[in-house]
Amino acid sequence: MNKVVSVRNLNILLKLCGTAILWLHVATAGAQEYPPTGERLRVLADNADFQIGYASRYNFRVQTYAELYEQIVKAEFNIVTPENSVKWENVHPLQTSYDFDDMDTLVQFAEENNMVLHGHPLLWYNQNPDWIISLPEEQVEAAMLDHIDTVVSRYAGKIKVWDVVNEALEDTSLGGGYRDNIWLQAMGESYVEKAFVRARAADPTASLIYNDYDVGWFTPKGEAMYNLVTDLVDAGVPLDGVGFQMHIGATFEEYEEFSSNMQRYADMGLDIYITEFDVKTLRPSEYPLQGVVYEEVIRRCLAQPRCKALQIWGIDDFNSWQPFFDPLPFDDDFNIKPAYYGMQRALLAKALHVENHSSPENIIVESGVVKPLASGGSLKLDQVNFEPGYQSLTLRYANSSRQTASVDIRLDSLDGPLLASVATPATASATLFSSVDSVIATTDGVHDVYVIFNTPVEGFSLDYVLLNTENRTPSETPIVDEDSPATSSSGMIGPITVGWLATMLWYRRRFLRLGSGQWSFRIIPGYQKFPV
Ligand code: G3I
Repeated sequence: MNKVVSVRNLNILLKLCGTAILWLHVATAGAQEYPPTGERLRVLADNADFQIGYASRYNFRVQTYAELYEQIVKAEFNIVTPENSVKWENVHPLQTSYDFDDMDTLVQFAEENNMVLHGHPLLWYNQNPDWIISLPEEQVEAAMLDHIDTVVSRYAGKIKVWDVVNEALEDTSLGGGYRDNIWLQAMGESYVEKAFVRARAADPTASLIYNDYDVGWFTPKGEAMYNLVTDLVDAGVPLDGVGFQMHIGATFEEYEEFSSNMQRYADMGLDIYITEFDVKTLRPSEYPLQGVVYEEVIRRCLAQPRCKALQIWGIDDFNSWQPFFDPLPFDDDFNIKPAYYGMQRALLAKALHVENHSSPENIIVESGVVKPLASGGSLKLDQVNFEPGYQSLTLRYANSSRQTASVDIRLDSLDGPLLASVATPATASATLFSSVDSVIATTDGVHDVYVIFNTPVEGFSLDYVLLNTENRTPSETPIVDEDSPATSSSGMIGPITVGWLATMLWYRRRFLRLGSGQWSFRIIPGYQKFPV
């Protein structure tokens, strides 16, 4: 490994200093709010017959934050991948010796907490120890086979999924095709098949997948991967699925391509795993947008029966491999971000088997927000199951008109029994949302629900309707408008600018105020959210 101090390490050093200065500030500000309201992600995922997971930090049990870290991962996740523990440089540091300590610790932790284990990776071009890099080519295949035999058989029956080969393809900017690496140099392209065949022999019970990045939607590299996988399947290589790493950004919008791409692998009889999910963003004001991407990607994955799991690559921004892009659902101090609630919303909808809604006349739905075109516009929510005994209803809306509008909720038809009629005072902005609650007429059974907008023509948006089984006193939930001065972005703080440490204090204070004041999605047990 090249030991030159990388920009990333310098960044981390500065961030460490900055955070060390702020740690007392953050701690005294009561930064951690764990657990949040609502269901834990793994509870929802279990109900949806899905695996939601993370990548486990090397040596996580000896970190200063180990207690909170373990509390979170045990509560939230039912599948785990070692971020680095079973990579060659850590598990096979010398040709004649293996070091399984860190991986054994994770395996024990996962078994104690009923988590599925996902191994990563058996073969990669990166994080290989010097001995294998300098080994004469004619000895590499034997070393590879010994590694696969030793590592896979040690965890046979424990590690249920293996990234057998990781990132074998070149980035198309470099011409595409097989990426140059020690395995290709020693065995040619056949190393991929040899690795899968050997892994199958070492543990016939494990699902074996090919894993890569920038392949989750229709990209040139994604096409190269589809061709590679097709060739492997046609050759009878023991391949059970594919891994899309999905290191994406908050401006991601290729959802249709993502769904179609998953479908074509499903058509081949392969499972799909979202293996290293994270969503880069440049500033806290984009956190809600980041949350939308988390929610939609998971929603798409849940809609595809062959999509078996989604794992985030780490849990907190500080320990992320790309810490300056805040890509994860927990911030540097394990505060929960909108991305967490996006995950919760997607899983909740699936867990409660909320059917899709059909949108009758007079409304448009833009990026998940309903905009009634004219008074009397309505939204139909199909086959809502009232069995849990819903008691009250929360409606989140924005009303930029100067007058109070009202929304009626009726059962079975546009003029069916009235479930609730909710006044929606002006919020002064079409993007400044507020929530109002209403007790609802108790009912049961399965009904279509009509949300009818008795609203002024312009400027009314509905984000969601929630039913809950707990009585709630009607309340206004103040919403911080994403464009208000309090949340206007300071722009990207140059990660290594001289004044970086000084600005950290201001940045952190602003973020915490933003974090405490900013609207965040709350799910109370029994809530049923209707995606609009
Ligand atoms: O453990 C040593 C520590 O002893 C030493 O003091 C420190 C000095 O920098 O380095 C530590 O090792 C670091 C290791 O992570 C463990 O933290 C390496 O320098 C660092 O390069 C390594 O980065 C990992 C990266 O892969 C390597 O390319 C990231 O944590 C890991 O998240 C990332 O994960 C990869 C996937 O495996 C494959 N897909 C892409 C993904 C992101 O690059």
